[in-house]
Amino acid sequence: MLEMEICKKLDIEKIRRDFPILKREVHGKQLVYLDNAATSQKPESVIQAISEYYRTYNANTHRGVHLLSEEATDKYEYAHRKVAKFINAKSYKEIIFVRNTTEAINLVAYSWGRANVSKGDTIVLSEMEHHSNIVPWQLLAKEKGANLEYIEVDDTGCLNLDSLDNILSRDVKLVSIAHMSNVLGTINPVELIIEKAHNAGALVMIDGAQSAAHMPIDMQKIGCDFYAFSGHKMAGPTGIGVLYGRKSLLEQMDPFLGGGDMILEVKLTESTWNDLPWKFEAGTPSIAQGIGLGAAIDYLTEIGMDAIHEYEQEIVSYAMSELLNIDGIEILGPSSELRGGLVSFSLKDVHPHDIASILDMEGVAIRAGHHCAQPLHDKYGLGASARASFYLYNTKDEVDLLINAINKAKGIFTF
Ligand code: ALA
Repeated sequence: MLEMEICKKLDIEKIRRDFPILKREVHGKQLVYLDNAATSQKPESVIQAISEYYRTYNANTHRGVHLLSEEATDKYEYAHRKVAKFINAKSYKEIIFVRNTTEAINLVAYSWGRANVSKGDTIVLSEMEHHSNIVPWQLLAKEKGANLEYIEVDDTGCLNLDSLDNILSRDVKLVSIAHMSNVLGTINPVELIIEKAHNAGALVMIDGAQSAAHMPIDMQKIGCDFYAFSGHKMAGPTGIGVLYGRKSLLEQMDPFLGGGDMILEVKLTESTWNDLPWKFEAGTPSIAQGIGLGAAIDYLTEIGMDAIHEYEQEIVSYAMSELLNIDGIEILGPSSELRGGLVSFSLKDVHPHDIASILDMEGVAIRAGHHCAQPLHDKYGLGASARASFYLYNTKDEVDLLINAINKAKGIFTF
């Protein structure tokens, strides 16, 4: 019954046929891929867009004056426009292609942070951040003598915004927060956080690594200053990610990397910078990957981000209720209405890596570890957790296979 209800908006059978890898077997079992928060699978249209570039118009962008270079340049630049439309940015000039979310955050910490953060200033993060939204700020704070403050995560796995109010009374320059936690699944109230931070005179960066792929994102509605996400988590290739930045800020910032393509003019003593967004894209860019990301955005847009989000929430809700039927399971994070499509858990007396290994033998791919969020696991007194993360092609039947495999692991490791 649930399967019918949740399938009515998405044609899951057709979607599954679009992803060739879903046909493969693992250890003699049908693959059940539930590690989408780490990276998603790619549809045929994305694979073809990348292959078409290499097969028919492989050339460098911007520098060439020949037809192949013109075609490559047009397609690569057009991918920026597709991203701008996808996240409702005001202009493609606000869309910088980087390697991944990590690089986007480092770019801001380096180019904006080094010019705007001084001794005694405060940068606000939260206890649920991924290492990529902690370590770049630690490096900056150490260099500048700035302070890091962390918004607490409460017992339900949500941010304690009272602690934010306290912190914002200090000299805060930037708040940098995950839109959705890669461990708890919590979708944070970013619009409220941005309003509070802006009222306190601070800028806001949002780590959208887990959100941009799974729900509609609107830069003009959210109102943040910077937003970062990765192509490979949203049906696109690896090696391409996006930094959105407000144009007025990007214009003021110095480049992150220097080299070819990011300049207007180079003299022996000094240089001037290219227009946005190219000022931040030094050297030969990830051309095939950028074009592949454009194809991924076409694919997701055609299906609809609202429908994808709704479907994943129903899948995660079903998964959570089934997991809770297993004796000894503890789920990290809030109820399904407050989260996106992932669930991390621990199972009494069974190490998460053992669960993942047994599941792998059953064809079920999940992630085990601290998921690059060690401070959050420390807070919960856990060395690791197991995580199942869903995408638009996962089904209720696959959740049932996950549950069967966990019961099998439980049988092996508990007596
Ligand atoms: N950040 C990715 C994850 O959570 C790799 O698995």
